[in-house]
Amino acid sequence: MKRKLREYDRRYPAILDDAKPHLVEGRAVDLGHTLDALEVLLDLFKLDPQLKASHRILIPSVIFHDCGWSKVPKNMLPGSYGDVKEDNPGKIIHQEQGAGIARRILKKHSYPEDCIEEVSFIVSVHDKPEEYKKHALAGIVAEIDKLVRYKPTLFWGLINDGTFKNREERVAFLEKGLGKWFTKPEFRQKAASLLEERKREQGKP
Ligand SMILES: [Fe+2]
Ligand SMILES: [Fe+2]
Repeated sequence: MKRKLREYDRRYPAILDDAKPHLVEGRAVDLGHTLDALEVLLDLFKLDPQLKASHRILIPSVIFHDCGWSKVPKNMLPGSYGDVKEDNPGKIIHQEQGAGIARRILKKHSYPEDCIEEVSFIVSVHDKPEEYKKHALAGIVAEIDKLVRYKPTLFWGLINDGTFKNREERVAFLEKGLGKWFTKPEFRQKAASLLEERKREQGKP
C-alpha cells in the first residue's frame, strides 16, 4: 500500500502513518476498513483518469474519514457502524473530530492549504447524505465508504463483533443498501458482486 501511495505523492505514506494511531484507537475495524477503501480508490484511479487527477483531495479524505472515532467516548462505539444506529451521537462527533485531525496532520506535512480545506470539509460530511450529495468528490468518498462494507473486513468484522447476529442478517442489511447507497451504477455492480462472494464464503475468523 505504501509503495502504491508514494507513486502519487511522497508525503502520503508518512501521512498514513500519522493517521494510523487514530484508526487503531477508534473502532476495531477502522484501520482495515480504511485500507480497504484506499485499495478501492487506487483501483478506481487506474480506470478513471479524471478521478486520478483529484488524488490530492481523495487520498487524504479516505485516509482521514474515520480517524475521528478515536475521539468518540468508548461507550458510544458499540453498534455505531454504518446506519445501524442512526441516532448515535458518535456519527456527528467522529466527522467533526476527524476534520480537525486531518487539518492538523496535513498542515504538519506542509500540504497545500486549499486542499486541506477541501479534505477537512469532506471528512466533516462523509456520513451526511444531504451534504455529501452536493459535492462530487465527497459523494465519491461516501460511496467508496459504503462499498467496502461488502469486503471481508467489514462483512465478517461486524458479525464477529456482534453488531450483526449472523451472515443472514448481514446479507439482508447489505442487500437493502444496494438500492439506496449508490448513485453510480459501477459502484452498485461492484457491491453486488462482492456480496455474492461473501454469500459463498464459509466464514472468517
Ligand atoms: Fe465514518
Ligand atoms: Fe468509514
